[in-house]
Amino acid sequence: MEVIIRPNVDAATDLVAGVIARELRANPRLVLGLATGRTMGSVYARLVRMHREENLDFSGCRAFNLDEYVGLPGDHRDSYRHYMNHHFFLHVNIDLPNTHLPNGLADDLGTECANYERLIAQCGGIDLQLLGIGLNGHLGFNEPLSAFNSRTRVKVLSPVTRDQNALLFQNPEQMPNRAITMGVGTILDCRRCLLLATGEDKAAIVAKAVEGPVTSMISATALQFHPECTFILDEAAASRLKGRDYYHWIFENQPEWKSFRAPAPADATNGFRNRGQRRSDARNKASNRSLPNNRVRPVKNSLLS
Ligand code: GLP
Repeated sequence: MEVIIRPNVDAATDLVAGVIARELRANPRLVLGLATGRTMGSVYARLVRMHREENLDFSGCRAFNLDEYVGLPGDHRDSYRHYMNHHFFLHVNIDLPNTHLPNGLADDLGTECANYERLIAQCGGIDLQLLGIGLNGHLGFNEPLSAFNSRTRVKVLSPVTRDQNALLFQNPEQMPNRAITMGVGTILDCRRCLLLATGEDKAAIVAKAVEGPVTSMISATALQFHPECTFILDEAAASRLKGRDYYHWIFENQPEWKSFRAPAPADATNGFRNRGQRRSDARNKASNRSLPNNRVRPVKNSLLS
């Protein structure tokens, strides 16, 4: 697992969208795993903008969403199908038949879940899975005690999740009690996981997920087993992490992040010499002030000799 901390929500979101764009450009047939929630809205807004302004091309990719509420039709305003269509799919050139969410209205939910797993496998597995995190540490709707080898199935939503998500429903009483979700095992099988968390209210659960003991009470701790998982956080969500300095150091030093770092100032190619040079320039400037006719004092600086 790797943790990247960016100064604010915008920078964290830019980074997530940037990684997705880079992977898609490298592999136009990318199989994307997608997530919903408040945090993801701005990721999709950026991808839509990249599609419009930079021709980011989604025509060859497939998408599988993590989850869907049981009992909501796709055209219900609070279903995740509706969320995805309106935040993302209908604004880019992805082929709608290549976008997949579990069908929460299926007569036989068990068969629907097994078919979803089969379809992911037929497409060669998920290359890049985007994840958010619930306040109880859920991934998708993998509520506390979800087995780490679980596959797509129906879960009963916990009270914490109900409180967190009911606010998004037009009529909170209509929020279903159950959802179909990819399993923790399904998520661990994805080639790369990218988890975005922002804001202070996520700080406590992020600290447990990243630095706490692995436990099925907090599904996100399973990501500690994933060989290619990156948590991308803003400072607020990272505020309770003990290893913050090290995580900042990773962003500054890991070659993968080079193109996302601010370009170094033009004169910073030799920090030591330039620091010395700047100091001596300042000294000379100060001392030359007292010389008549702007005569330049000879430089005595061992750093430059
Ligand atoms: C829902 C989704 C999760 C998502 C979570 C975070 O519960 N099922 O996949 O991680 O929301 O939501 P938010 O970004 O609104 O905090």
